Amino acid sequence: MSQRTATEYFDFIASLGYTKHHGSLTATRELVRLCHIEPDSYVLDVGCGVGATPSLLAREVGCRVMGVDLLEKMVEHSRQRAREDGVEHLTDFRAADARDLPFDDDTFDGVISESVNVFFPDKRQAASEYVRVTRPGGYVGMTEMTWLQPPTQQMEESFVRMAYAHVLDVEGWTEVLRASGLADVVGTGSQIDVKTESKTRIQRYGWRRILRGLLNATKLMARDRRARQFVSDGSGALSKDMLHIVGYGVYAGRKPEAP
Ligand SMILES: C[S@@+](CC[C@H](N)C(=O)[O-])C[C@H]1O[C@@H](n2cnc3c(N)ncnc32)[C@H](O)[C@@H]1O
Repeated sequence: MSQRTATEYFDFIASLGYTKHHGSLTATRELVRLCHIEPDSYVLDVGCGVGATPSLLAREVGCRVMGVDLLEKMVEHSRQRAREDGVEHLTDFRAADARDLPFDDDTFDGVISESVNVFFPDKRQAASEYVRVTRPGGYVGMTEMTWLQPPTQQMEESFVRMAYAHVLDVEGWTEVLRASGLADVVGTGSQIDVKTESKTRIQRYGWRRILRGLLNATKLMARDRRARQFVSDGSGALSKDMLHIVGYGVYAGRKPEAP
């Protein structure tokens, strides 16, 4: 098992100023639909990274968004992104752990998370927190890396070792949501389409931020062996010939109304 930890990896991607989830904008827009996110919704984005999705929701839907992330660095990036996009009045950010959210019960109309839960070996604690802070009748949704076909044991182990990712299949993810108390749970697995993914990443970040991220990556890799290792492990874990085995899934369920 690697000596590097998932938190060191998140710290590395925070230094790039660039975070992502598989399925990119396609997955986010599907989450908006499945979670019934509307202009008068108050939404929590857990593990918001550098704030691309909170900004998108505020700009495209016009709703209020709270973004939380484990790392203060990510929170700072998110605030900057909201300022640059002119949506500070609709967004708020704070550092918090998904597994112990600093919000009252029944606070949000929708709670979403994108490529966050895959990093938790045990996903129940975070999912129960999402349900706790969602109002009855509100929705919890996530988009996460998903096995589309049964992996070999070696593949499963290499995802944990190289990408810190504890991937589930569609049945596994929907079961996590059901077990946390959600009703009407839906979920679909999809292949990653590399072309669409690249195109929508450009829409999500714009060329200027992508080039800044690449420049930051180059500088970091030149001076830090760990950074080189993160990049090589990441590309090794998900190679092109695995795209029919691992993809992404979009999942959602409704918190039942109080009896
Ligand atoms: C792969 S990135 C995805 C970021 C963002 N959702 C996106 O789609 O760009 C995973 C994010 O989850 C955050 N994270 C990891 N563990 C967390 C935890 N326990 N609580 C809150 N955030 C966490 C990381 O700091 C990182 O920003």
